[in-house]
Amino acid sequence: PVPVLLDCDPGHDDAIAILLALGSPAIELLGITTTFGNCPVDQATYNAQRILALAQRPDVPIAAGAAGPLAGEAHIGDFIHGRTGIDGPDLPAPLAPPVRLGAVEFLRTSLLDAPDPVTLVATGPMTNVGMLLRDHPDVGPKIAEIVFMGGSTERGNTTPAAEFNAYADPDALDLVLTSGLPVRMVGLNLSHQALATPDVVERMRAMDHAVGRACADLMGFFGGTYSEVFDFAAPPVHDPCTIAALIDPGLITWRRSFVAVETEGRWTRGATVVDLHGRLDEPANADVALTIDAPGYWDLVLAALDRVGSQ
Ligand code: BDR
Ligand code: CA
Repeated sequence: PVPVLLDCDPGHDDAIAILLALGSPAIELLGITTTFGNCPVDQATYNAQRILALAQRPDVPIAAGAAGPLAGEAHIGDFIHGRTGIDGPDLPAPLAPPVRLGAVEFLRTSLLDAPDPVTLVATGPMTNVGMLLRDHPDVGPKIAEIVFMGGSTERGNTTPAAEFNAYADPDALDLVLTSGLPVRMVGLNLSHQALATPDVVERMRAMDHAVGRACADLMGFFGGTYSEVFDFAAPPVHDPCTIAALIDPGLITWRRSFVAVETEGRWTRGATVVDLHGRLDEPANADVALTIDAPGYWDLVLAALDRVGSQ
C-alpha cells in the first residue's frame, strides 16, 4: 500500500477523503493532521476524531495544526460547511485524543521515521505543509510526492478568482509549488466533475450502516449549501479525488504544467495560474488533473465506504 499522511480541515468532503483512505487496501493512512479552513482548527481536530470514531479506527494518530495562515487573518468556510464544519450527520463522540505533538512536528517525525518515502496529501489550506517545507527542508527526500486539492485551471469558488484552499493561505501554497518536490494538483476544474448526484447519495444510504448513513447525511447538508450558494444541482466532492488518484491512477488524466499562485493581487489573491499551453516559458512544476472518470470514482469511493462501515 501507498503510505499516506493526510493534512485536512474536515469538512464534508475531507471526511469522505479520510473514510476513502481507511477503506482502501491500496492506502496505508499513517496519520492525520488538521488545519483551520472549513472551521477553526480545534473543531477540525474534533471532527477528525469523530470521523475516526465513526470508522472505529481510533488507532490512527491525529495531530492538530495551524489556527491561521502564514500571513493575515484566518478565513473560515462556514458558508458551505455550516457552524461545525461538518453539519448534517449525528456523529459518535471521539474514542481517542489527538497526539501531543503539533502537526508540523508530527509530520516531520513521521516522515523521518518512515522506512520509505511517504505521500503527503493536503485537502485544506496548505499552512502546515508550507511550514514543514520552510522549516524542515531535511524531510524533502522522505516525501514521495505532494498531492493537494486546491486552485483551479479555471475560476474560483471563494472569490471569483480564487479557490478556497488556495485563497485561505496562498503563501503556504506558494512554498509547496516552489519546493522542487513532485507535486500533483487536483483543482476545482477536476472536482467539479465529481458530483454526488442523488443516485450516489441513494447508494450511500442503501448501505444501511452507520458509515453509509453518515455520508448520505453529509452529502445532504453539503448539497443544500452548494445549491443555495452556487446553484449547483449536486455537490462536488473535491477532496477524495486526491486519494482516488493514488488508488487508481487510470481514473484521472493529468497535464504537466507550470503552476503559480498569486500572493499579492488586489482582486486575485489566491488565484492559481496554470500554464496548460506553455505560454510563459517557465519550467513545469506540477501534474495538473484535467478529467476524471466520475462513475469509476464513485464505484471506488462507495466500495471503500462500504468496507469501512461493514468492518
Ligand atoms: C475545498 O475547500 C473546502 O470547502 C473543501 O473541503 C475543499 O477542500 C474546495 O474548494
Ligand atoms: Ca478540505
